[in-house]
Amino acid sequence: MWSWQDLRSLLGTERPPRGVAACHSVGDLRDRARRRVPRPVFDYVDGAAGDEMSLERSTAAFRSVEFHPRVLRNVTSVSAETTILGRRSPFPLVLGPTGFTRMMHHSGEPAVARVAAAAGIPYTLSTMGTTSIEDLVDAAPGADLWFQLYIWRDRARSKDLVDRATEAGYRVLVVTVDVPVAGPRLRDVRNGLTIPPRLTLRSLAGMARYPSWWANVVTSPPLSFATFAGAPSDLAGLINSMFDPSVTVEDLEWLRGQWDGPLVVKGITTLEAAREVVAAGADGIVVSNHGGRQLDRSPVTLEALPAIAAALGDRCEILLDGGIRSGADVIAGVALGARACMVGRAYLYGLMAGGEAGVKRAVDLLTAEALLTLRLLGATGLGDLGDGLVSLRPAPR
Ligand code: GLV
Repeated sequence: MWSWQDLRSLLGTERPPRGVAACHSVGDLRDRARRRVPRPVFDYVDGAAGDEMSLERSTAAFRSVEFHPRVLRNVTSVSAETTILGRRSPFPLVLGPTGFTRMMHHSGEPAVARVAAAAGIPYTLSTMGTTSIEDLVDAAPGADLWFQLYIWRDRARSKDLVDRATEAGYRVLVVTVDVPVAGPRLRDVRNGLTIPPRLTLRSLAGMARYPSWWANVVTSPPLSFATFAGAPSDLAGLINSMFDPSVTVEDLEWLRGQWDGPLVVKGITTLEAAREVVAAGADGIVVSNHGGRQLDRSPVTLEALPAIAAALGDRCEILLDGGIRSGADVIAGVALGARACMVGRAYLYGLMAGGEAGVKRAVDLLTAEALLTLRLLGATGLGDLGDGLVSLRPAPR
């Protein structure tokens, strides 16, 4: 008969992974996130504008990527190192700007910036952030920090933010140009989301289901904006009161004169717009439709990328965002013309799933998946990705 000793040796002693360690893809982190935070918070991150067609199409576009591997190549050593706007980075990834990040998890922007610093990749603080420009620098020493700006009605306040970012040592200024007015985020409207979240009978009832999220919210500093004060408001109301629908390319030229470092324009989906902002002095662009959160049915960024990269790749640095959920997606984006990819939701799912450890898990997964993809492609570095290793399958008729 089997003794307990015999059985133990068969069972092994390792504990199965738990928490975010049991998440083996960004999709797993998303599933865990859904269970960990109140529905309106999850939906704010996960949702998009209108019927969410742009969001759906953006993620679907990555399913039409086809890899054409080279075989019999020595892929013992592989690296995804690159240069992003003049600074070496071990991986072609930028953690993008996201609003209200302390709402997803109380550790918020500092947690994300610390993970970025440890990974050697840039992090972009949003104008709609919930940690101040200066506090973030203290919280994440050594991070390659970028600052994202919306040009506001009050130009002096925009200028003040730019000056603060310069003073605090931010390296890159990212100006977002696809929010003349708020996009129609129907999930937020239906959920009655206010920023900061307002306690209502419904949210009080929800507390029992997400005790740790609520406990952390009420015991950490109030969820206020880092860059402006505002009474609780629905998101669209907030955006429409602050943002300026009259911003034009002349304002971009004005901004160019206010900032000495690299200037990146985010929210470009057409070649014509890309040419216009490069002529106005942009050093880089993010081919982005704001994760489908602004104009629904706007172009799919992965599909718009190759023509923009072919026309302007030697005049400005091109980043890609929208629908990137795996390291293979990052490799596809780079192969089709991006210097690096920018992610928002991918790390926010990690943040909601498990705070800083969850963000780290997301970045580690993306990195490991990208390196594995390179190896399986028969590539030892990003420089090998030309030569037709990656293509987009034609849309089925
Ligand atoms: C903010 O920029 C958002 O997309 O919600």
